[in-house]
Amino acid sequence: MPDFSASFARRTRLRGGDELTTILAGSPPGVLSMTGGFPNPETFPTDEVDAIAARLVRDDAAVALQYTPCAGLASVREYLVERQAALQGRRPELAELIVTSGGMECIALLCQALIDPGDAVAVEEPTYLGALMAFAGAEARVVPVDTDADGLVVEALAERLADGLRPKFLYVIPEYQNPTGRTLPLARRRALVELCRRHGVLIVEDVAYRELAFDGASLPTLWSLGPDTVLQAGTFSKTFFPGVRLGWAAGPAEVIAELVAAKQNTDQCAGGFGQRLVEEYGRAGGFERHLPAARQLYASHWSALSAALERHMPAGVTWTEPAGGFLTWMTLPDGLDALALRPAALEAGVAYVPGPPFHAGDAGAATLRLSFSHLGPPDLECAAERLGGVVAAALTPAQA
Ligand SMILES: Cc1ncc(COP(=O)(O)O)c(C=O)c1O
Repeated sequence: MPDFSASFARRTRLRGGDELTTILAGSPPGVLSMTGGFPNPETFPTDEVDAIAARLVRDDAAVALQYTPCAGLASVREYLVERQAALQGRRPELAELIVTSGGMECIALLCQALIDPGDAVAVEEPTYLGALMAFAGAEARVVPVDTDADGLVVEALAERLADGLRPKFLYVIPEYQNPTGRTLPLARRRALVELCRRHGVLIVEDVAYRELAFDGASLPTLWSLGPDTVLQAGTFSKTFFPGVRLGWAAGPAEVIAELVAAKQNTDQCAGGFGQRLVEEYGRAGGFERHLPAARQLYASHWSALSAALERHMPAGVTWTEPAGGFLTWMTLPDGLDALALRPAALEAGVAYVPGPPFHAGDAGAATLRLSFSHLGPPDLECAAERLGGVVAAALTPAQA
């Protein structure tokens, strides 16, 4: 058998990824999994997708089944321009918008377009694992910025910038952040945009969960506050379905033009079929019809998990209170190690994602991420009870 390992690029050893592979592979039978930030299949609008798909194949095959322009089909981009205006109060120019093959592709395109090896990228600490992997694969120098209960600490970034840090961009998830579930308040949003504008730093705003507020309310996006200095990466994975692999980026025209050029080196264009599905679904009011039920579903899951954690977690364990999205972030008492506890948790029939992979360095040993999107309330109750038992068993007599 030939051995090709010597041919693999240096970046294959840099990007990590075992944890993401574990998440995507799912959990063994009998294990209640709170790992993946996957949307609940109950929210998939199957009947409407069925009808639209049939119609597209019948009446629109020449467009929907064909290659599309790199930046996306004109009608789809026009629809997305209208959608930005309706949801975010600002209408991007066509040159300020690109259709992507999902949020993750946007991050990959940004890496291609902006990152040379050794360039700095600033991130919230902790942050989305997929983004960290992409930055590592691009050989970026990832600079973690402190967060607190309200997300990114703007003064901490200001200090780094005053010390001379010049990141190619700051990557931030303002709503129901992955992994912490936290939301950046309005005052911080304004301060962040102002700070980055002053220093000429591009903000990459990932709005993956934005439309999934439990109460439907939302704060102004960073992009709407600073379209000159913010690039927004959006996805339809959580509000439509991930199988469509579709998203958008809205931002300064010169950056969007580079993303379009970079896309020629990836998949050349997002799938036309998915683009037309999203457009038809959106223009027919699908999001307005279905999102309220999705929000209610996730809110009911969180309310079940939150109550179950209160009942079953030992004293000294804390967790965040998300106002939307899929995730909560747990901190165990000092000295406990979420990675080391995982085998015992799996043995007890519960799975979570340990915190360290969400960090740029080695921090986060005592933290873990729980997703409540997938399991229903009775399973969440049982999962919390199992997890509480595992944590309680690991506490020293002094901690218990
Ligand atoms: C914060 C964040 N950004 C982006 C993505 C990826 O989105 P997509 O499925 O569109 O690639 C995810 C998926 O979990 C996410 O949590």
